Amino acid sequence: MAEGFTIWLTGLSGAGKSTIAALLERELRERGRRVEVLDGDVVRTHLSKGLGFSREDRDTNILRIGWVCEVLSRNDVIAISAAISPYRETRDQVRARVGRFVEVYVNCSLDTCIDRDVKGLYKRALTGELPSFTGVSDPYEPPLAPEIEVRTELEPVEASAARIVAYLEANGFLQAREDTILATR
Ligand code: ADX
Repeated sequence: MAEGFTIWLTGLSGAGKSTIAALLERELRERGRRVEVLDGDVVRTHLSKGLGFSREDRDTNILRIGWVCEVLSRNDVIAISAAISPYRETRDQVRARVGRFVEVYVNCSLDTCIDRDVKGLYKRALTGELPSFTGVSDPYEPPLAPEIEVRTELEPVEASAARIVAYLEANGFLQAREDTILATR
């Protein structure tokens, strides 16, 4: 049984975290690994239900997700977190707890996230209807030394996911494999 670890995707809302998490999940399952995705939007409907977007509530949310990732990772599961996780210090706290931790900065400019506005939330944030919105009226602290950075406005999400898989192979998290269901290598 191969060892578990955590892939921690961090970035603005709309940067592509959930899409990349889903691609990674499919690829890793295809390789016979057990995988669990913890998506901020989903976690907030149960484990973190009732929490808002103050610093304290975001930290509570992230530490909960981190705890689940820690438990899964030590049981040979690959845990993938897809939450904004805006605070560097909180991400580093999770990193210290989890140990086998791969931080991925899903980098996409605010302008592009606003253009995409997949959920229509930026529009509401920009008019002030939605307060404390990450990147608009609330901070986002990019990682200073992520294991990997992907730029979703410069390449398709499949290419970003493939680069993450290549990193995992090159650094002993995954066994190298020739065939992959991800389009680009
Ligand atoms: S985190 O800051 O605690 O990591 P998380 O990833 O769980 O955030 O949730 C972010 C999602 O909540 C966004 O993708 C968006 O759909 C929604 N959301 C609602 N209000 C806000 C807000 N004020 N700031 C950021 N995201 C928000």
